[in-house]
Amino acid sequence: MSSSYPEHIAIIMDGNGRWAKQRNLSRSKGHKEGVKTTKKIIEYSAKIDIKYLTLYAFSAENWKRPRREVSFLMNLFNSTIDRELDDLIEKNVKVKFIGRREGLGGSIRRRIENAEKKTKDGKKLVLTVALNYGGRKEIVDAVKNLIKDEISAEQIDEETFSKYLYTSGTPDPDLVIRTSGEYRISNYLLWQIAYSELYITDVLWPDFDEKELDRAIKDYKSRNRRFGSIN
Ligand code: IPE
Ligand code: IPE
Ligand code: MG
Repeated sequence: MSSSYPEHIAIIMDGNGRWAKQRNLSRSKGHKEGVKTTKKIIEYSAKIDIKYLTLYAFSAENWKRPRREVSFLMNLFNSTIDRELDDLIEKNVKVKFIGRREGLGGSIRRRIENAEKKTKDGKKLVLTVALNYGGRKEIVDAVKNLIKDEISAEQIDEETFSKYLYTSGTPDPDLVIRTSGEYRISNYLLWQIAYSELYITDVLWPDFDEKELDRAIKDYKSRNRRFGSIN
């Protein structure tokens, strides 16, 4: 039996640097081009009735990059939110951010909070942006909050635990897409992808487009998700 349409797609948007390198451009140019793809994919996802789209924008490990690149990326996130927020509201998109906020600068935190507040009634698509996100940190934070809330060992099961993750309220991804051909998860949604289907393409993120997303969805639909059973 093949799978139905994916309700939730999570994407590891990788390959901006390599895209730029191939063209003798700076890595920054690659990131800028990547933002254009991101906009296209958000709009297309809404159009084709994807209900949840989760995008990996900056990992908790990406701070290891040169300071110049990190600060370029932070400025790019700020300017992108400023430019795109009205459009997202108009398109009925609900925006959420996951990741450790305390590690982010004040200006970006203010924008994140504002974007979440202004889009909270969005009904068309839930767009979750992983920013300063690490899957292991998310699990550690969940454990800390369970302890703070004095939840007893007997009360903890998978469902309760899930509610303590940053992604509480969002179903697990059906499909995880990674661009640029790396066969790894890079600390993304570790708990949530337990039974997600994986799709890895060599296409670099700035070259990814609607057709590539269609291709990934078509591939997903041909999969047989067994969840441990035998049908
Ligand atoms: C993904 O592109 C964007 C971020 C991690 C912010 P990369 O910058 O990782 O591109 P490559 O992997 O160096 O090509
Ligand atoms: C994963 O890409 C993080 C994002 C896409 C934001 P990386 O480029 O950081 O992953 P690694 O370092 O190649 O595993
Ligand atoms: Mg990369």
